[in-house]
Amino acid sequence: MPSQTNTERPSGKFLRNAWYVAGFSHELKQKPLLARTILSQPVLLYRDESGELAAIGNRCPHRFAPLSMGRLVGDQVRCIYHGLGFDRSGKCVHNPHGPTGSIAVPAFPLAERDGIVWIWMGEAALADLSTVPRFDRLDTAGYHVDYGYLHGSAHYELMSDNILDLSHIEFLHPALGTEAVSKAKVLVEQQPDRIVVTRRMRDEVLHPGLGGVYRTGTRPVNRTMTVSWAAPANLTLWVDVETIDDGQPWQSGSQSLHLFTPETDSSTHYFYVASLDREKADEATAESFFNALQRVFTTEDKPIIDAQAELIGHSDIMELKPALLPIDKANVFARRRLSKMIAQESGGPNHDSGS
Ligand code: FES
Ligand SMILES: [Fe+2]
Repeated sequence: MPSQTNTERPSGKFLRNAWYVAGFSHELKQKPLLARTILSQPVLLYRDESGELAAIGNRCPHRFAPLSMGRLVGDQVRCIYHGLGFDRSGKCVHNPHGPTGSIAVPAFPLAERDGIVWIWMGEAALADLSTVPRFDRLDTAGYHVDYGYLHGSAHYELMSDNILDLSHIEFLHPALGTEAVSKAKVLVEQQPDRIVVTRRMRDEVLHPGLGGVYRTGTRPVNRTMTVSWAAPANLTLWVDVETIDDGQPWQSGSQSLHLFTPETDSSTHYFYVASLDREKADEATAESFFNALQRVFTTEDKPIIDAQAELIGHSDIMELKPALLPIDKANVFARRRLSKMIAQESGGPNHDSGS
């Protein structure tokens, strides 16, 4: 791999030595040369001739044209502007105007798992495939699985706060929350590699739409929502529902992944994956559930988070001394932990704004 790569980037803003979602496998089918800015760096994702995924810098080193506007020729990406060609290692291997010399773009380690493409933006030598995040309930034989993408005009931590603190569903999402949400018992656990928030709602009658998805109807249920956060901003949410009426006991649930990748320090790629057990939900139920989630994320979560980010501007929310409520505990823990990790990685002071 060429040496002109990942160590030359400014440190301290993002956790660099971590796996981030770069995209979904199906996106590469729709767009063979997929341009995406990740951690403020222009990246080009594509499959080479053998079908293997590659990720190289998207900015041609000659006149900085996007390589994504070029084309694939054999195993090279050829720049549309003056024809330089680059291989999957980022090395320039074709120059119609003279020698290729040391011309290169960065190249990034990748891993593809369960339809998710992960990228390593840090020190390539530290990329360890055994640490690529894996999730269960993505096996389509057993589960209905839906992959979705949203662009957020907000810092990625604001977006992961939104999942870590699900008290908002009672107020922002009438189709998902009830008054039982704010009355719930909430447990926040700091585990070595994650923060887990468990919210137990008791004796709740779900909104009819949700009661339909979980097939609990209007019967009272106990609902547990468990959110697991892992740095930098990968969250899993499990919802477990059980009826408490002894007549016809029923258990159901869902899983969703909320994987946030910083595009810049003020915008985010939001990759989500939702799944429902095939034994508990038919195709039509799953489809309407996935559509409802997409609608909720797009028309309810996104507008409030984007608007919140606009008012916060370029500040870190913690620097603005927000009124902290008990519901913010997990957010504070996650921010503190990530801040420490970034400081350790960059060798700088710990900008711990979360205490
Ligand atoms: S800008 Fe790419 S070859 Fe000139
Ligand atoms: Fe929400």
